[in-house]
Amino acid sequence: MLPKLQYHVEPQKGWLNDPNGLCYFKGKYHAFFQHHPEATQWTAPMHWAHAVSEDLIHWEELPLALVPDMPYESTLGCFSGSAVEKDGKLYLFYTAVGENLAQTQCLATSEDGLHFVKHSGNPIIPQSPVDPQSLDFRDPKVFPWEDGTYRMVCGVGRDGLAAVVLYKSSDLLHWEYAGKLFETREMGPVLECPDLFPAGDKWALCFSRMDQPQCVQFVLGQFDGEHFTPEDFQRPAVGPNFYAPQSFVDHKGRRILMGWMTPWGQPEDPEAVRCGCLTVPMEVSLNDAGNLCLYPVEEAQGYLTQEDPHVEQGQWIVKVTDGKHILLERPAKDVRDVKVFADTHTCEVFLNGGETVCSFYFEP
Ligand code: FRU
Repeated sequence: MLPKLQYHVEPQKGWLNDPNGLCYFKGKYHAFFQHHPEATQWTAPMHWAHAVSEDLIHWEELPLALVPDMPYESTLGCFSGSAVEKDGKLYLFYTAVGENLAQTQCLATSEDGLHFVKHSGNPIIPQSPVDPQSLDFRDPKVFPWEDGTYRMVCGVGRDGLAAVVLYKSSDLLHWEYAGKLFETREMGPVLECPDLFPAGDKWALCFSRMDQPQCVQFVLGQFDGEHFTPEDFQRPAVGPNFYAPQSFVDHKGRRILMGWMTPWGQPEDPEAVRCGCLTVPMEVSLNDAGNLCLYPVEEAQGYLTQEDPHVEQGQWIVKVTDGKHILLERPAKDVRDVKVFADTHTCEVFLNGGETVCSFYFEP
């Protein structure tokens, strides 16, 4: 059995996938995550588990935040979503999966960041704008817009056409469909866990692709509150165990992003009591070369090392391996800087200040 991680969000017991509702609320960082308390593989129905931290490194697990107990969550439960604070109250937006696997967008609120009440008017968005059957309409990410209104992005898909759609609201309860922001036939059936945020003088649209194992796509471009114009496709996080990241802004104004690490493709550990963790929190920036960078937050930097058995820094080649496979290779001349954040069974390697991030789980 793998020992428990020391510096990551990881459940005491059970399954973890996507980070949800990341925020700083009432003096603490909150990380919710997709969870099944009794399983060590993805198993429905999904719950939202909850952890808090004061330093983004040491996490305390709290009671479950969302348990699927409503008719509109009756099949697969409470899927991924995000958090926004308004007037001292925390709003959690999530996808509920109910009868006939219909996916709808729902809301729960909290005054204290510990107890959550589901909105009596759920679902707040009852069906997909592109498919009334709503089978692939999920992962609402809500953020404030400049004029005091709010925007929400969700991932959708139908018949091979996948998209990120946009909604607008002035009160967080009523949402108006504002069209497709981005669509493609090349990146899988549905664009999961979309996020949209400013990065330098650009906007970054991010989503997770189901067409390749653990593939996270970032698209830099322009966003005016209504339309997104893609300019540059980047993939700073090269996996192999990195998916469904979400970002938030903390009280210091930092844009912080965390993803899900899973032992994808590795043999199942029959003795496991838990599976999956969140990545180290990373600050997002755009460097002078126009590359989107993900680098451990300041609080984590004291734990970074320059050398690790998983990184071979040769004269010509820098290699990251998991002991058996080569996960990443770069000509040494292109590598200015190597930093490693290692925990009891994970390793996250950052090249050139986070231009490239390689995250992996050790084999059991
Ligand atoms: C991504 C994802 C989301 C969904 C959740 C369900 O890993 O498939 O699209 O909301 O996981 O657990």
